[in-house]
Amino acid sequence: MLNVALPKGRLGEKVYAMFEAAGYECPSIRENSRKLVFENEEKQVRYFWVKPSDVAIYVERGAADIGVAGKDILLEYEPAVYELLDLNIGKCRMAVAAPADFRDNENRTLRVATKFTSIAAAYYAGLGRQIDMIKLNGSIELAPILELSDVIVDIVETGTTLKENNLIVHQTILPISARLIANKASFQFKGPQIEDLLCRIKEQVNECD
Ligand code: PRP
Repeated sequence: MLNVALPKGRLGEKVYAMFEAAGYECPSIRENSRKLVFENEEKQVRYFWVKPSDVAIYVERGAADIGVAGKDILLEYEPAVYELLDLNIGKCRMAVAAPADFRDNENRTLRVATKFTSIAAAYYAGLGRQIDMIKLNGSIELAPILELSDVIVDIVETGTTLKENNLIVHQTILPISARLIANKASFQFKGPQIEDLLCRIKEQVNECD
C-alpha cells in the first residue's frame, strides 16, 4: 500500500482529482465527509485527510509515504523529505502587506506579525532590517488594523482578504505552489511504486498547463 497524505480542504480536492485522473482512484473518498482514511486495495493506495500544515510531518515521520504540501510549509519548517514535483496548483504568494499609506521608518524597529516566522526572519535578515517578530496563528490581517504590528507577512491568493481589511501588498517575498513530497525511506523501499505514480502525476501536471 502506498500511503498518501492529502491536505484537507479545497486544495486537497484538486489534488485528489489529479491522483484520480492519474489512475489512483478511490471512489469511497467522495462518499463520506467525516471519515479520514480511504483505501483502494486494487490500486494499492490509501489516502488520508490531514490538516494542510501537518502533511509534511506525516511524510517526514513515515506515517505517509507521500503527500502534498505548500512550498510555504516546506520553507518554513524545512522537513527532511524529498520534494518530487511542483504540482502547479494551489498557487499564491508570500507577501509583506500593510495599509496603503504605510512607509517604513528605518530608524525604528519594524513590527512584523506572521504565522511564518522563519520565512519572515530570513527575508528581513537578507535586507539587514531589524524587526520585532510577533507570532500569530491566524487572522493575521487584524494585526496592522489594531496597530499590533506595522506590517504582516502572509499568504495572498486572490487578494480579497487584504482588500476587505484595507491592506495592500508592499513587497512580494516569493511565489508558492503545492509540491508532491516523499518520505526518504519510502522513496528507497517503495521506489518503483513512487516512480510510477510520479510519472503519471507529471502527465497530469502537463495536461493542466
Ligand atoms: C490565508 C491567508 C490569508 C488568506 C489569503 O488564510 O492567511 O488570510 O488565506 O487569501 P485571499 O488572498 O484569497 O483572500 P487562511 O484561510 O488559510 O486562514 P488563516 O486566517 O488561519 O491563516
